[in-house]
Amino acid sequence: MTISKYLREKLIEIAREAAKASYSPYSKFPVGAALLASDGRVFTGCNVENASYGASCCAERVALNKAVSEGSREFLALAVTAKGGIPPCGICRQALLEFCGPSLPIFCGGLKGPDRDKVKKYTLGRLAPEPFGKCSL
Ligand code: THU
Repeated sequence: MTISKYLREKLIEIAREAAKASYSPYSKFPVGAALLASDGRVFTGCNVENASYGASCCAERVALNKAVSEGSREFLALAVTAKGGIPPCGICRQALLEFCGPSLPIFCGGLKGPDRDKVKKYTLGRLAPEPFGKCSL
């Protein structure tokens, strides 16, 4: 399914809003995510850090785990917002691969200032071209 410009901008906006709840006292790097499920629901996430750094969770996985825990397992698009417009980290790519195909569009936008309007578009397949998954087992 092709995601319209309107929907893409809406998702980016929702992700930006979600970033406001970021708990990131250590990195001071807020991230927001908005995951559109095929049932039409949008699940949001922000990064939640911990004094024991390894216990921190990225915004994308918060959104994904919220979605799965509420019964959504099929997704149409993901928006991620952070300073500079970053693509999901390796662990988040792996987590997304469990539920999403390579064609999942991933829109990465900035939070404010000059990088606000520069949205980078990827697909999960482009970011994780040789995945390890169920089929590998
Ligand atoms: N972070 C995310 O939330 N998503 C990513 O894809 C990359 C990194 C968070 C983790 C940590 O709280 C902060 O950004 C700095 O790494």
